Amino acid sequence: MAHHDEAGIGDFVLLDQINIDSFMENLQVRFNAGKIYTYIGEVCVSVNPYRTINIYGPDVVNQYKGREIFERPPHVFAIADAAYKAMKRRGQDTCIVISGESGSGKTEASKIIMRYIAAVTNVSQQAEIDRVKSVLIQSNSILEAFGNAKTNRNDNSSRFGKYMDINFDFKHDPVGGHISNYLLEKSRVVLQQPGERNFHAFYQLLYGAPDAELAKLRLVRDAGQYYYTSQGGNTRVDSISDRQDYKSVSAALRLLGFSSEKTDCIWRTIAAVLNLGNVEFDDNGETTTVSTPERLEAVGALLSVTPAELGKTLCHRVIAAGGEVMEKGHTGVQASYGRDAFAKAIYERLFTWIIQEVNSAIEVREESQRYRTKNTVIGVLDIYGFEIFNNNSFEQFCINYCNEKLQQLFIELVLRQEQEEYSREGIEWTNVDYFNNQIICDLVEQPHKGIIAIMDEACLNVGRITDEMLLEAMDKKLANHRHYSSRRLNPMDKELRHGEEFRIRHYAGDVSYNITGFLDKNKDMLYQDFKRLLYSSQNETLKSMWPEGAQHISKTTKRPLTAGTLFKNSMIALINNLASKQPHYVRCIKPNEEKSPVLFDRERVRHQVNYLGLIENVRVRRAGFAYRQSYDRFLRRYKMISQFTWPNFHGESDKEGVKILIKEQNFVDDVKYGKTKIFLRSPQTLFKLEQARGRLIPHIVIFLQKMWRGALCRMRYRKMLAARTILHAFRRYKLRHYIKQLNTLFRNVQRSPDFGRSVRWPPAPLVCRGAVGHLQAIHLRWWAFMVLSRIPADERPQMRLKVTAADALQGRRPEWGAGRRWQGNYLASVQENSNTAGYVQSLSQLRTKDRFQKIMFSALVRKFNRNNKMAERAVVVTDTNIYKLDAKKFKCLTSHPIADVTGVSVSPRSDQLAVIHLRGGNDLVVALVAAKAEDRVGELVGVVCRQYSASQGGELRVLVADRIQCMLGNKAKTLTVEIAPDAQFASYRKGATKDAIALVWPPHLGPPPASIANGVKNGNGRVH
Ligand SMILES: Nc1ncnc2c1ncn2[C@@H]1O[C@H](COP(=O)(O)OP(=O)(O)OP(=O)(O)O)[C@@H](O)[C@H]1O
Ligand SMILES: [Mg+2]
Repeated sequence: MAHHDEAGIGDFVLLDQINIDSFMENLQVRFNAGKIYTYIGEVCVSVNPYRTINIYGPDVVNQYKGREIFERPPHVFAIADAAYKAMKRRGQDTCIVISGESGSGKTEASKIIMRYIAAVTNVSQQAEIDRVKSVLIQSNSILEAFGNAKTNRNDNSSRFGKYMDINFDFKHDPVGGHISNYLLEKSRVVLQQPGERNFHAFYQLLYGAPDAELAKLRLVRDAGQYYYTSQGGNTRVDSISDRQDYKSVSAALRLLGFSSEKTDCIWRTIAAVLNLGNVEFDDNGETTTVSTPERLEAVGALLSVTPAELGKTLCHRVIAAGGEVMEKGHTGVQASYGRDAFAKAIYERLFTWIIQEVNSAIEVREESQRYRTKNTVIGVLDIYGFEIFNNNSFEQFCINYCNEKLQQLFIELVLRQEQEEYSREGIEWTNVDYFNNQIICDLVEQPHKGIIAIMDEACLNVGRITDEMLLEAMDKKLANHRHYSSRRLNPMDKELRHGEEFRIRHYAGDVSYNITGFLDKNKDMLYQDFKRLLYSSQNETLKSMWPEGAQHISKTTKRPLTAGTLFKNSMIALINNLASKQPHYVRCIKPNEEKSPVLFDRERVRHQVNYLGLIENVRVRRAGFAYRQSYDRFLRRYKMISQFTWPNFHGESDKEGVKILIKEQNFVDDVKYGKTKIFLRSPQTLFKLEQARGRLIPHIVIFLQKMWRGALCRMRYRKMLAARTILHAFRRYKLRHYIKQLNTLFRNVQRSPDFGRSVRWPPAPLVCRGAVGHLQAIHLRWWAFMVLSRIPADERPQMRLKVTAADALQGRRPEWGAGRRWQGNYLASVQENSNTAGYVQSLSQLRTKDRFQKIMFSALVRKFNRNNKMAERAVVVTDTNIYKLDAKKFKCLTSHPIADVTGVSVSPRSDQLAVIHLRGGNDLVVALVAAKAEDRVGELVGVVCRQYSASQGGELRVLVADRIQCMLGNKAKTLTVEIAPDAQFASYRKGATKDAIALVWPPHLGPPPASIANGVKNGNGRVH
């Protein structure tokens, strides 16, 4: 640490000898070298430099950002960073307590800390967070304008206590804040000691506002003209530019969203107080009147009340007694007292209202809350410092009591608890003595016996109790207290005025308080009349500050708590709040009373070092440990560093695990093992542990991501499996359900005439859409089987033929003889053929020759040949050949094996033309001649196709067309059919062109029209 810092030693813990002299020596060496910050462990001692030092710029911020406290030279930035880091690391609320006497630099330190936090946050530059940050920072100038004043100790002395919470979101960016204020020294509004000033705001308005504004506010640019701003003497302060400050305050008000009405109301109220201070009274012994009516008028106008009402309220009061309401005139003294009380109350209300408004500008907004998983805050406490004036009153009493409480908190946390913890944990330890100021806190706050309780009791008393009587009561009750004295108790003490003063021996020094005004200030009374008056103001903002003015005069209210008790309660709440957070300390020291940057007043500093308990702090710290943690939490945080403890330590206890880890990392010399906690002596060890942890965290994160992704996938996979099982079950269910449905529908189809052909299949569920086709096919097949099984065996061959013919012609030709019994060998029948014997004989010769098995078809035909001649012939189709025979003796003219057939063409009408296409360029063009008018084309086509596929294994091409292309004598011809109702016989004639031939067909030779019904569906549709 010291090596960072060439001047002196950066941490008092490292001093060779710990005593006040070496401490002072080090502090002075550092102060002279401009090193104003020095540590005691993690406590920062800050000496007010009384000059601007260039150590707060962005480059310095960067040096401290995210660093450990011991890495860089001592700086208040490091404390801010430590608080911020602790909050980030442990999700813990932290606070920074800044203490020290008036003028020691607390307010400056708090502003530096806030600026630092603002500088290191919001890396993503969100607009809302930037707004919050600037509001937080800008609010300072407003609060200082209305709550700070020049005192003899400090040109910018805080005359109120301020505790500010800064709220952080889950990304650790500031999203809002809240300010609590404590006891404003309002007596300053009406009374200032020589050399002091009223609150800055008065002078800012007088010296900063434009002329027109001043005229409007009934003011002149001279603070000397106003009683409330001139008592202290010189109204100007060298170190302060009121004019400039007025501008910054106005800008800050605008930034915080104060409307122009509200801003206007603020300055009007300030102007009203100034004018009110110059209102004077005339007391003629009987009645009191306002002797400065123009002032009265100005105040009335500024407060938006009528001057008459205002005048009445200043000079009278209304009292309700026994159900009656009456007016009572004030004496001149009472009126002046009332006026001052009024001025103080107006100012105090204004101040509280301003803080409320600031709070609503920085309160955590809903939208940023939405994403907030945890509300973490850093609290910054900047409260008035311990002070001793020539004349100390009730306010100083409260302020000094507040400092006692803070010292007590410091003692509690840093000195007492720490030492107690060592002994509780069984760590070897030589106790360090320190002065415990609990006894002084008790002197002030103890119930029944404490000064506040005695004051309250006096206030409760009916009848006239004077301050003197209060002092007497205190003397009586506190006679034996070591830290209390008065002239009565100690007549030899000439410094204390008899019947007027008492002395408290504070931890920071003796302070004599003047009892005058204590009772009044404790009661903090304001006549109801004033509250009602301002509630009746036409100015809505002002009116809203006085809600209790709405109460009717006759209504009795509960006695309000006294100022002393209120202050005590707020202090207790504050201390509890601070104690619940992890504290960080800045201890401010004032080097001299002259505000000099070069003077190091050893006596003054020594005094502060003593009463702040800094030496004790060093002793405890030096002997103590920088860090402690319970074994389980320590192990959980650092277990990944050691292979023995990662991922889980399975030994006997966490303590054992911690010991193994520490040993492995070679930190044994720097630690002590307590009963439940481990103690690390130096922060470096903690830092090294943190570093090692930091190095491993990315791997662990990746590991966790990996595992989690795996887990997610497995989960998804299991879900998929489950879905599949459900899907299968559901499908099976749907299928079963469907099959059951079919079962019911088809149960009796065997007995139904159409074997279920007419049953409407219910719509199939998606799952069995595919299967339904098969089921329907199965049913169809079964149905066909059932239908066929009715057909006798000898008819089956014919059936097959018909099916073949149907395949070829159904839907293409209306009549193909399906309804007729097919005879096949027509020429064997005498009705058809007169020479059956010749036919049989001829065929038997052919059978022998060609070895065919069976005659499939035979008929007489009219044929057309290549010589354009028509002739009567017979056509015979056997299982092997097609023969053309002459029509008389049935001599074979041509014979073609079935294999030569290349196709069959027929016309789409009922004529009996059939062309059997043959290889060799000579097709067989015939018109079938029947004894009856019936269709035989279908039969011929069926027979030829069947024989062809039986012998050749394939389907024969069957053409159904009006114009039939054929080959005759190797020439292509076009055949058409001409229906000629008048003709007797079928004949051929040449067509219009050379290649055209027409069959002239008398319709009566074909099948009768009635039979044209055979399942024709439409045009060319083919039925299978
Ligand atoms: N770090 C600093 N750098 C420069 N000047 C400083 C610093 N700290 C304090 N000062 C000077 O000291 C003056 C008094 O400081 P400050 O107002 O912070 O005291 P305080 O402890 O808040 O006193 P009080 O208790 O009266 O409010 C400041 O106005 C400033 O001029
Ligand atoms: Mg201050």
